[in-house]
Amino acid sequence: MTKTAFPLLALLALVACGKKDESATAASPAAQTAAQPAALDAAAAAGAENRRRDPFTYANYDAVRVTDLALEATVLFDEKTLDAVATLTVERVDPAATMLVLDANDLDIRRVEAGDGETFAPATYSLGPDDPVLGSKLTIDLPAGARKVRIAYRTSPGAEALQWLSPEQTAGKKRPFMYSQNQSINARSMAPVQDTPAVRMTWSATIRTPADLRAVMSAENDMGPTDGEYAFRMPQPVPAYLLAIAAGDIAFKALSETIGVYAEPSVVEAAAAEFADTPAMERTASALYGPYRWGRYDLLILPPSFPFGGMENPRLSFMTPTLLAGDKSLTGVVAHELAHSWSGNLVTNATWSDAWLNEGVTSYVENRLVEAVYGTGRAVMEQALSLKSLQEEIAGQTKPELTRLRLPMNLDHPDEAFSDIAYVKGEFFLRFLEERYGRAVFDPFLRDWFETHAFKAATTDDFRGFLLERLVAANPQAASIAEIDEWLDAPGLPATTPQPKSAAFDKVDAARRAFLDGAAAPASLGTAAWTAQEWLHFINGLPADISPSRLGELDLAFDLTNSRNAEIAFAWQMKAIGAGYAPAMPAVENFLTHVGRGKFIYPLYRALKDKGELATAERILEKAKAGYHPIAQRRVADILQAQN
Ligand code: BES
Ligand code: ZN
Repeated sequence: MTKTAFPLLALLALVACGKKDESATAASPAAQTAAQPAALDAAAAAGAENRRRDPFTYANYDAVRVTDLALEATVLFDEKTLDAVATLTVERVDPAATMLVLDANDLDIRRVEAGDGETFAPATYSLGPDDPVLGSKLTIDLPAGARKVRIAYRTSPGAEALQWLSPEQTAGKKRPFMYSQNQSINARSMAPVQDTPAVRMTWSATIRTPADLRAVMSAENDMGPTDGEYAFRMPQPVPAYLLAIAAGDIAFKALSETIGVYAEPSVVEAAAAEFADTPAMERTASALYGPYRWGRYDLLILPPSFPFGGMENPRLSFMTPTLLAGDKSLTGVVAHELAHSWSGNLVTNATWSDAWLNEGVTSYVENRLVEAVYGTGRAVMEQALSLKSLQEEIAGQTKPELTRLRLPMNLDHPDEAFSDIAYVKGEFFLRFLEERYGRAVFDPFLRDWFETHAFKAATTDDFRGFLLERLVAANPQAASIAEIDEWLDAPGLPATTPQPKSAAFDKVDAARRAFLDGAAAPASLGTAAWTAQEWLHFINGLPADISPSRLGELDLAFDLTNSRNAEIAFAWQMKAIGAGYAPAMPAVENFLTHVGRGKFIYPLYRALKDKGELATAERILEKAKAGYHPIAQRRVADILQAQN
């Protein structure tokens, strides 16, 4: 990723704040420190900056806020462009405000007008220079009385949010496909908006596509016929990172009255079978954490280039097809994206440095849903797999400040916040609280957190305050404030980390030991009934220096190189690269050229590089690149170019 050094970013943020912003007036660090109560340690004190101001937006949201977006767009596949008009409704937080500041990235701004909603007149505006992380600042003069701003623009073919797939890159091979991925700060390359999780807006859209294609969005979808014109409405206010669109040859299959699956026609049946438990997950989540607030919940299965496992776009989670394992073993990701309907979409991190409030809380809820639908055995196995991954990540992290839940505000890029720290350390923090207070107390607490903060942005401090008030004050014996603050502000993993105990994994450990000691042949390891989680634990636990011939024995018995479960194939290929097990290399190349999911491809490219196979990695990337989303193209290029 192209990174901006922090001082420049901080400067840009200050400049972008506008007159009314606190961090702009409290310009001296001393003044900022004075406003903060005693901090845990020196590093936290040094970080006593304004933790509510998002440094990754130009928007002057303390002065003027966008409250609604009405989007009209035509999807031009040949030009890889959205030709659009965005009408923004604004609210003056500061009655004296004379400007609206928006985020834009690679947008071709054609015309800007302002008005009262009935009539519009051309408005003066300026588009600032392109910062590699932030994009450009779009400043629009707001005449007195102006309530609406109308912007005609076109997106760039290289827009960071959008991937344009040729027919050959789809499952059906006949029609093109496009989709967006706006988290964390890519919405600004799709539309001029206040691209910060701290600002929420309602929105609506009219989208035109070629007549035989369907557009879907993260909103009330147009369930009408495929005719090339679709209307959408999102009546609940959401941040811009949750705005999403896809268009292509898309079919639908219902899973229940209110839940269904969208996918290319050749994928939709398999997806409906794989994700048949989604209604049960939603029932469980609603029973635990309060009613589902968004109307329908549908899943959209994307082509394999989708760079994430899933993305919690409201009412319509976007999902990778690599979850289609045939045995529902990877549906934790559905539980995860559904869980974001409470943690993230309803209660949203105010800045990306509090990403654990989105991802950690969601990972905890995900595991509760997995437990309810698939049983404690699977839930505990998934906890153990996550904890091992977190421990390895902490061990390899050279910047200890990035292992705190409450991350520093001066990240190089918001995406830096999305590591196992946010996900797994956050999850285990909540599990620690669950253990100390008991579910009878903790479950209602979390439900109240969602209810009292619904449709709001929250900081780590908000959570801490709510925790102290609602749990700690009433049960002072259960957990000390020092223990809680260690979770929030100390690097690494606290000694109070709950330890998942899986009897199934103990058996897998014994089997692995027997194989490694030469005491048992692969066929006699008792693997017949192993689930994907057991296989993952078995493979991940193989020593890094295992010989290629020993991997060959396992491969001969279990054909792990060609596993149709993407998680197992990935885990195996990582071992294979590390051990120099050549027979798996064609499968690695095949995987990298067909799948664009970051969780798999970033570590595989890094492993190739670390093994001294940089030339191979570069050759594969050259071939595979056109099939990756811009986010993934950039990340992989960074991995291969990095000096370590
Ligand atoms: N919100 C994330 C995806 C994301 C994070 C996109 C940061 C852009 C920036 C989503 O909910 C997620 O966490 N997906 C995970 C799956 C999950 C089960 C860990 C993924 O994609 O692997
Ligand atoms: Zn998530």
